[in-house]
Amino acid sequence: MKTYHPHGTENPKWWQTAVFYQIYPRSFQDSNGDGIGDLQGIINRLDYLVDLGIDAIWISPIFPSPMADFGYDVSDYCDIHPVFGNLETFDRLLAEAHACNLKIILDFVPNHSSNQHPWFLASRSSRDNAKRDWYIWRDTKPDGSPPNNWTSMFGGPAWTWDEKTQQYYMHSFLPEQPDLNWRNPEVVDAMHNVLRFWLKRGVDGFRVDAILCLIKHEAFLDNPPVEAGSYWEKWGHQFEPRYTVNQPEMFEHVRKMRHVFDEFDERVHIGETSTVDVAGLLPYYGQPLDGYDIPFNFKLLHADWNATEMRAIIEEYYDILPTGGWPNFVFGNHDIHRFATRYGRANHRSVAMLLLTLWGIPTLYYGDELGMEDVFIPVEQRIDPWGIDVPESDFGRDPERTPMQWDASLNAGFTSGTPWLPLAQNYAQVNVADQLSDDQSTLTFYKTLLHLRRSHPALHNGSFTFVDGLGNDLLAYLREAGSQRLLVCLNFGTQPRTVILNHLTLDCQTLLSTHFNAHTGTTLSLQAHESVLLQLK
Ligand code: NOJ
Ligand code: CA
Repeated sequence: MKTYHPHGTENPKWWQTAVFYQIYPRSFQDSNGDGIGDLQGIINRLDYLVDLGIDAIWISPIFPSPMADFGYDVSDYCDIHPVFGNLETFDRLLAEAHACNLKIILDFVPNHSSNQHPWFLASRSSRDNAKRDWYIWRDTKPDGSPPNNWTSMFGGPAWTWDEKTQQYYMHSFLPEQPDLNWRNPEVVDAMHNVLRFWLKRGVDGFRVDAILCLIKHEAFLDNPPVEAGSYWEKWGHQFEPRYTVNQPEMFEHVRKMRHVFDEFDERVHIGETSTVDVAGLLPYYGQPLDGYDIPFNFKLLHADWNATEMRAIIEEYYDILPTGGWPNFVFGNHDIHRFATRYGRANHRSVAMLLLTLWGIPTLYYGDELGMEDVFIPVEQRIDPWGIDVPESDFGRDPERTPMQWDASLNAGFTSGTPWLPLAQNYAQVNVADQLSDDQSTLTFYKTLLHLRRSHPALHNGSFTFVDGLGNDLLAYLREAGSQRLLVCLNFGTQPRTVILNHLTLDCQTLLSTHFNAHTGTTLSLQAHESVLLQLK
């Protein structure tokens, strides 16, 4: 049995022991009846978040935006979109969140702006405009085709022709999201100042969007075709983005942004990474640790619900972590179908058990604490551009972005108007109000687990040891700190399993079971899909 010892447990930073909770602001709580969630709505629900037991809220973009990509197309980096409120509402949110010990993390979208951003309007106004080089402009090939074969992450060419100035501009995502030119020092300064604007205001950190795309190969080389069965092929790509993502200079920019964070106390620097393998996460930590505090780890999220596969990923990650680097895990966000749907409803509490008891910083996605599932949206009703642009695919992200289900009243208590995306049909059965009063609900399960995590140092910075020899369906590990000895055991299988842990004294107390069972004695009998957290004596 191999044991991992977290480093620096004496004086952990706040984010090392925190649980993060992502709010997709359009869908959390509407306060004015326009059918779209807003900042006042979040303020109104702070009590819920405190009671839930999370520590930090990450809010997806709330800045002025034409909403071509629902906020990931920013037209003013230093203001709030009126649909969400204004700077005064934001300051109030910050003050009220801080008053109840919640941190606020914003989303920083450095790779691209909106095509309506004044910078881009200036850039496209003429070839000799001072901001021309703030974006990536190239001539057509002699035959009139785009400069190279680069494609957008959402499908189709990464180049859009500008009739007026007779050049193409580059966009890693939608044509409405032109890529900023991070090789231009003026862009770098302007964007660093955006970070300072919010950090000075008191935000506790940023999640940095799509960092992988920040720098493109200088020679604008064609990307090679994808290999069959590869990660990129799975995501609908025809070409492997060899010259468009994860370029060495990109990591330099991560380091420079990090220095801006370091001008302030105790802010957290989180990055949306994208790597084909676990090892790809390493450079995002920096060398030595001057990159992201939390380079989002999506490796479990992309894995099958399988004990052997999950263990292999976790073990590889722990094995290669740089000294002093903290692990983190993500199972859901606004870009991926909900895990209660991906892994099956029967497993959704086990996902939480894993996420909240592994050694690593967890990020939760709003509504997962209720067991929210994907909402089916017919192709003709899709509003996510990715779903619309690739209609034959299941890439559309509307299903996982539907409104939070607060109660059984009209529109689930989310809005008094017409919700911007349809609500789940089962909201009268799956909602906060009902689950709060049910002592065996998924919400009660999450609250109990979050409370246990907070009150047991072994769960956030205790040592971690896998238990070997349990076969394919079971995953078990020990978390230990001082005299605290906890055992987590998850049954990934569809059959009940009896676990005999010879080398451990199974003289235990059940702290929590996904099925709210109480296990005693020296043999553990788990139901199908059951997971437990036990205290060993
Ligand atoms: C990643 C974000 O999470 C996603 O929602 C967005 O569409 C792209 N980056 C582009 O900003
Ligand atoms: Ca609203």
